[in-house]
Parts: sequence; structure tokens; C-alpha cells
Amino acid sequence: MQKITIENILKKKNKIPITCLTSYSKSTAQILDKECDIVLVGDSLGNVLYGMKSTKNVSIETMILHGKAVRNFVKKSLVVVDMPYKTYENKFSAYKNAKKIIKTTKCDAVKLEGGKKISKIIKYLVDKRINVMGHIGLLPQSSTNFKPKGKSVSQKEKILKDALSISNSGVFAMVLECVVKDLAKKITKIVPVPTIGIGSSKFCDGQVLVTDDILGLSDLSPKFVKRYSNIKKTIKKSVKNYVKDVKLRRFPSNKNSYN
Ligand code: KIV
Repeated sequence: MQKITIENILKKKNKIPITCLTSYSKSTAQILDKECDIVLVGDSLGNVLYGMKSTKNVSIETMILHGKAVRNFVKKSLVVVDMPYKTYENKFSAYKNAKKIIKTTKCDAVKLEGGKKISKIIKYLVDKRINVMGHIGLLPQSSTNFKPKGKSVSQKEKILKDALSISNSGVFAMVLECVVKDLAKKITKIVPVPTIGIGSSKFCDGQVLVTDDILGLSDLSPKFVKRYSNIKKTIKKSVKNYVKDVKLRRFPSNKNSYN
């Protein structure tokens, strides 16, 4: 199985839609590896796995632990790990932490949230040979509201500047989160690197979603999510049947016992 490289991802721009989903553990990593171009170890794990109110509370140690678990079971896809909140406040701490993530997890790239404000930090990392994926539009680590971005003229101009700025700093791709359709289309046309949309329309070069959301495992279901199954229902049914079997002494049967 040939490993997907940054060059492979770049070549897909304007040609083949890039596929990306989140993974935090072995089981999903193994499944996604056969299907997705990029596996993202997102700091959304704070909300999804640990029930935190914000991704602000996710530590670098937690990202490394999950990054390692995923990387160990991904042979083909490109693996990107989120840099958590406050781990890239200046170029020196960013480099120290990005190097730690890449070295210990053996993942291919890190993702940083922010536009023009962090473009010098991104450039510093790229100059030091760290592969960086950008993330603009709605920024969960710092946003105070979770509304679509780019509705007003000033917001449109700001996000466009952010896109150009991080593109000039050398990101190999950028996530556009909750960016309105016309702006996502414009950015995708202007920047030379692939745009990966989440709630940012079909005009992006690729798409990313949180895996738990498409499986129907999470409670939240924003408008931009499409549910492909209702795993929660399946799990509930299995748990109920197990409990019933135990109570009725139907489990364990002889088949499940040692002689
Ligand atoms: O943390 C995450 O999972 C993300 C994606 C949703 C883009 O950043």
C-alpha cells in the first residue's frame, strides 16, 4: 500500500475531491485508512471523546497520545494532528511543540487555527520543514460564536486576507470552517493549495467532517453534517439485549464457556 504524500494531496487540487475525516483511536483509524486521503486527529476529541465544553482544554499530551494511537494503524492516508490551544503562541513555542508532536507521533503534519495573525509562525514552521495545514473561518479554539463566517463585507475581506496570508506562508492545504459559499468558492479559486471545507460548500477542493457526527454517535448535528448511520441506536439495542440475556441467564451459554 503506497503512502499518500503532501505532493499527492497538492496534485488533487481542481481535479479530484480530497476526502478527510477525524479519528482519535485504533478502530476508526483502521477503517478510515482504506478510504480517506487524510485522517485528522482533531482537537475536537476534547468535545467528542472527553465531553469538554471547549477544545481550549485539550492538552498536547492528549493530542500526542491519540496521535500515536491513530498513526500506528494508518498505513496509507496522510495523518494530520491538531496543535492544541496555546501551544503556538510564538514561533519558538510553536516549533518546540510541533517538533514534539511530529517526533513522538510520527504523523505527517500539524494543523494550526488562525489566519494573518499567525502567518509568521506558520512560515517559521514551514521553513523548519514542518508540514502545516491551515484552518480559517470559524476557529473553535478562539471563536466566541459558532455562526457562519463571511456574511459581511468586512468579514469576507478579513477571511480572504487570512487565506492569502497563510497560503503565502506555505501551508500545504487549509481547512475552511463554516465559510459562506461564495467566499469559499473565491478562496478555492485564488489560493494555489487545496481548500478542505467543513460547512463551507461543495466548492472546496475537499471535505472534512467529524466521524462521530456522520455515524450518528454525537448529540450535536449542525446543518452542515450529513448522517450516514445511527450507530447510537445500534449500540443501545445491543446493550439492551446483552443486559436482558444476562438477567435471563441466557449469557454466557455453553458456547461462551470453557470446559
Ligand atoms: O478538531 C477537528 O476535528 C477539526 C475539524 C472538524 C476540521 O478541526
